[in-house]
Amino acid sequence: MIVDRGLENWKREKLHWLSPGARLGFVPTMGALHEGHATLLRRARQENDAVLLSIFVNPTQFNDPRDLQLYPRPIESDLQLARECGVDRVWLPDYQDLYPDQFNYRIEETSLSRVLCGRTRPGHFTGVLSVVMKLFSLAQVSANPQMQRAYFGEKDFQQLEMIRGMVRAFELPWDIRPVPTVRETDGLALSSRNLRLSPAARRLAPRLYQVLRNEPNLDVARQELERAGFRIDYLEEHPFASGRRRFVAAFLEDVRLIDNVEI
Ligand code: PAF
Repeated sequence: MIVDRGLENWKREKLHWLSPGARLGFVPTMGALHEGHATLLRRARQENDAVLLSIFVNPTQFNDPRDLQLYPRPIESDLQLARECGVDRVWLPDYQDLYPDQFNYRIEETSLSRVLCGRTRPGHFTGVLSVVMKLFSLAQVSANPQMQRAYFGEKDFQQLEMIRGMVRAFELPWDIRPVPTVRETDGLALSSRNLRLSPAARRLAPRLYQVLRNEPNLDVARQELERAGFRIDYLEEHPFASGRRRFVAAFLEDVRLIDNVEI
């Protein structure tokens, strides 16, 4: 597995990395990799000739500076997991590589970015879309979307939908492949944030998914979660082309958990 730090090396290398006709699977991440990421990487491995993983903790998508500061950065174990999943190349850009413009240029979505997570995290999706646009542009090895696929988890369904929308809006040559949410055996959706839960909060956390999935009445679901100790950010249903989904974001102690299910 090759590790490229910075931009210049990667830009040079990617010109002759893949042989003609080889398919690229790209998994952009912020590191702190867990089984959810491993699932994306294994899918990318199965479906492509080469797998590229990027790790960049993107400051422009954090609207809470404390959240950014606390975000785990276990690079050695990330590289180990990447190796185990058969990644060919890991790319580790830094802030200056991705933001030579100091974030003066941005991608803004004006509809879906205003609801659900976008309502209480202003600017979050502008940060996500801007960095994904930059990553796509720099990782691009072909002008043909059949030759390059990017993998995103359904746990961040709103993010996934917006990235799909951006690809359509700007005709970006990427095929977006969604991957179902990976859960612990008790139902809790895997997230890097789960590591920050205290043992008591961790025992409570699976209630979020149970209630989201099993309680048909949203008001009753809200009351149940609040009684259990969650502070609800939102609990709502939202229509998508693929069908209606139900979304929740809630705090346990100071950890914000999100989840969603198809209805
Ligand atoms: O889902 C993530 O890990 C991030 O939001 C992404 C897509 C890598 C952009 O920073």
